[in-house]
Amino acid sequence: MAFETISVTRKGAVAVLLLNRPDKLNAMNSKMKEEVALALAELEGDEAVRVAVVTGAGDKAFVAGADITEFAGKTPVDQWAGYGHTSLYNVVDRFHKPIIAMINGYCLGGGCELAMACDIRIASDRAQLGQPEINIGIIPGGGGSQRLPRLVGMGKAMELILTGDRIPATEALRIGLVDEVVPHDQLDSRTMELANKIAEKSPAAVRLAKEAVKASARLPIDQGLRFEQSLFSIVFSTQDKEEGVRAFLEKRPPRWTGR
Ligand code: COA
Repeated sequence: MAFETISVTRKGAVAVLLLNRPDKLNAMNSKMKEEVALALAELEGDEAVRVAVVTGAGDKAFVAGADITEFAGKTPVDQWAGYGHTSLYNVVDRFHKPIIAMINGYCLGGGCELAMACDIRIASDRAQLGQPEINIGIIPGGGGSQRLPRLVGMGKAMELILTGDRIPATEALRIGLVDEVVPHDQLDSRTMELANKIAEKSPAAVRLAKEAVKASARLPIDQGLRFEQSLFSIVFSTQDKEEGVRAFLEKRPPRWTGR
C-alpha cells in the first residue's frame, strides 16, 4: 500500500514503520494517524511479519507531537469523533504483535503517547521526551495522563504533565519512561537486534505472552493471575509448544509454525 506520510519497510520478519514528515519533526497530522492505523492493520494480517518497529524520519525527531496546526478551530465534536477503538493510540495498544518504539530524537506530546502505547521503548542518547501540552493550554489526549503514571509513578507523571518540561533520554531511563538508551549511531542496530531476537521466538507464544503482560495494566492482580492461567492453558494447545518441548529434548533448535 502506498502512503503519503509514512513508509513501511520489511527487513526479514521485522517491519519498520517510518513516520515521514521530517520538515515538521514528524508531527502527526490526521493523515499520518490514519495511515499508521491502516499500515498496522495490514501488518497484523501478514504472517511473515513477527515484530514491528516505529520510528521517525530524519535525525531530529521521533515525533514532536500531534500537528498543532490542526488544533486551531477544532470543535469538541470534531475531537470526540476521533476517539474510540480506531484512535491511533488504541490501535497501537491493541496491536497483537510486539511493537517497539525506536526513539531517535524529540518524543513529545502525542509522540510520547505513541511511544508509551508501544511495548518497548529504546531511545537514542540524543532523544528528549515530554508532555508539553500544558504549554499550549491543553492536556494530553492520547493516553498520556493514564499511561505515564503507570510507567513512572504519579509524582513524576504529574511533574512532567504540569510543567511540560522536556527530559533527556538518560533521565527518561532513570524514571522508567524508556527501557534502554543507546548511542545515537547504534540505535538502529540495537533495535533491530532486539526485534530479531523476539521475531525468532514462537509467534503463538509471543502473542499470548504479550497479551498476558498487557493485561497486568488493566486487571486487578487476582483477575490477572486467572487470565494468565487461561492463556497458559491455551498455549498448551499449540503445535509450537509440542515442537519447543520436543526440540529441547532432542537437543536441536525448534522450528516454529505459529500454530
Ligand atoms: N505541530 C506542528 N508543527 C510542528 C510541531 C507540532 N507539534 N512541532 C514542530 N513543528 C514544526 C515547526 O512549526 C516547524 O515548522 P516550520 O519550519 O514550517 O516553521 C518545524 O516543525 C521545525 O520545528 P522548529 O520549532 O523550528 O524546530 P526547533 O528545533 O527550533 O524546536 C521543538 C523543536 C520540538 C522544541 C519545537 O518544534 C516544539 O516545541 N514543537 C512543539 C512540541 C509540542 O508542543 N508538542 C505537543 C503538541 S500537543
